[in-house]
Amino acid sequence: MKKMTKRLLTFLLILVLSISIFDAQECKVQFERKGCIKTNRVVYHTQIANNRDSHSVVFTGKQVNWGNYQKSLQELIGECANRASKHGIAFAVGDYNQCWIATDEQNYNISFENQWQKSDGCIGHDFTKCVSSKHNLCAGGIGSQYVYFIGHQQNQTVDGKWGNWTSFTKCSKSCGVGFQTRSRICNKPKCGGKSCQGFSTESQQCNVQDCPVDGKWGNWTSYGPCTKSCGGGFQIRSRACDNPPQKYGGKDCLGRATENRTCNSQNCPVNGRYGNWTSFRSCTKSCGGGSQSRSRSCNNPAPKYGGKACVGSATDSRACNTQNCPSPDFQEVLVCEQQTRLIDCGAGKTIQLSDYFWGRTSKTVCRVGPDWFWSTTCKGGQAVIKTKCDGKKSCTINANHKWMNGDPCLGTPKYAWVKYRCFSSS
Ligand SMILES: *[C@@H]1O[C@H](CO)[C@@H](O)[C@H](O)[C@H]1NC(C)=O
Ligand SMILES: *[C@@H]1O[C@H](CO)[C@@H](O)[C@H](O)[C@H]1NC(C)=O
Ligand SMILES: *[C@@H]1O[C@H](CO)[C@@H](O)[C@H](O)[C@H]1NC(C)=O
Ligand SMILES: *[C@@H]1O[C@H](CO)[C@@H](O)[C@H](O)[C@H]1NC(C)=O
Ligand SMILES: *[C@@H]1O[C@H](CO)[C@@H](O)[C@H](O)[C@H]1NC(C)=O
Ligand SMILES: *[C@@H]1O[C@H](CO)[C@@H](O)[C@H](O)[C@H]1NC(C)=O
Repeated sequence: MKKMTKRLLTFLLILVLSISIFDAQECKVQFERKGCIKTNRVVYHTQIANNRDSHSVVFTGKQVNWGNYQKSLQELIGECANRASKHGIAFAVGDYNQCWIATDEQNYNISFENQWQKSDGCIGHDFTKCVSSKHNLCAGGIGSQYVYFIGHQQNQTVDGKWGNWTSFTKCSKSCGVGFQTRSRICNKPKCGGKSCQGFSTESQQCNVQDCPVDGKWGNWTSYGPCTKSCGGGFQIRSRACDNPPQKYGGKDCLGRATENRTCNSQNCPVNGRYGNWTSFRSCTKSCGGGSQSRSRSCNNPAPKYGGKACVGSATDSRACNTQNCPSPDFQEVLVCEQQTRLIDCGAGKTIQLSDYFWGRTSKTVCRVGPDWFWSTTCKGGQAVIKTKCDGKKSCTINANHKWMNGDPCLGTPKYAWVKYRCFSSS
């Protein structure tokens, strides 16, 4: 105990008459040392604290620690001052860690009325006799109590009171349903005031605006009708940006909303059509009624890919050179004996005889050598000439006995003579 006394000496040198004790609830009670009296149960009969007996109804919860009595004494006196301030004007600390109150000034005055009531039995925290220069807190010793005056203290009780709500915190999500909270602080009750009622934090939904939704394509429709039934048409299909549609600032669908493909690309049937008529060919006859033809080809265009053939005839003809043919002139041919001569009417014509013979009708024709005497006229060979030439295209007149089948002029100079014309047979 001596050790402890020495250690605490320096601290206790600062002596004050007026002492303030702050309890845990910041209840500041001021009190004044008054002095040591003999135990005065008449005045201080209401016990307000007991730190020794944990079963006491006024046990403060802080059991005395004899090993650190200074602290225990401070705690006890603090509690006593606090409790006394509510009900009395002075309190007395006894020798076994208990205290009592005097509830009014008159009673209190009594405790100091007579000099005989004073005591010098009080002790300091070091259990030595209470000396004001050494101890700022004292307690009663055996048969004594140490009195502290508190007077009428202001009621320092402050009930707890909520401060303003803070603003709400940032929402927990930037879109969709999030939460945000706010809080408030309870300005704590003092001196036994009531604590705050209600919650110190609360939350609420926030950002109820919807999240951006990117658009996505729906399915393609099936292809629409082909623009052509053959020869290459187009058909389209489409899709909509609706699965889901873009919303709330989301991205639009990427890519094309329509697609276009070729269809029915097989060739279309091409019906045949005639080209222009050729010009008429030459007439089959130059006179007397012939015909001439013209033609046309199924090539403008020719039928293709199952198209129809050309309609109508590919050839056509008409009559031509219908005028009567002029009668041809007769010609005469003289073939002297032993000579031959070809009669040729050419294509399309035949020999039409008019007058003809093998023999002699004049002395001077085909005459060679001296003038012989002969009768002027001798004729034959008609049948042969007619057979060989009439109606033929050509014939060769051989002016001799054999071809003519005889000599009608008995060895005298002769000739064949033919009058004919070429007759168009067609
Ligand atoms: C108590 O005593 C003081 C002086 O010591 C005096 O002023 C006061 O009037 C007294 N009070 C009563 C109620 O007697
Ligand atoms: C002290 O004040 C509080 C509130 O301010 C009140 O509730 C309490 O009853 C008061 N106490 C006394 C003893 O007047
Ligand atoms: C608390 O809110 C009220 C009403 O909005 C305002 O008048 C007061 O100044 C606020 N107090 C503090 C400490 O911000
Ligand atoms: C889109 O096409 C898919 C696959 O063919 C099919 O499963 C789905 O049901 C279609 N959706 C709609 C909305 O038709
Ligand atoms: C389909 O494609 C063809 C060829 O490119 C074009 O001429 C036609 O206009 C397109 N049709 C549509 C509806 O896009
Ligand atoms: C066919 O005849 C018409 C009319 O005479 C003419 O305009 C056209 O050029 C001709 N076609 C050919 C391929 O000759």
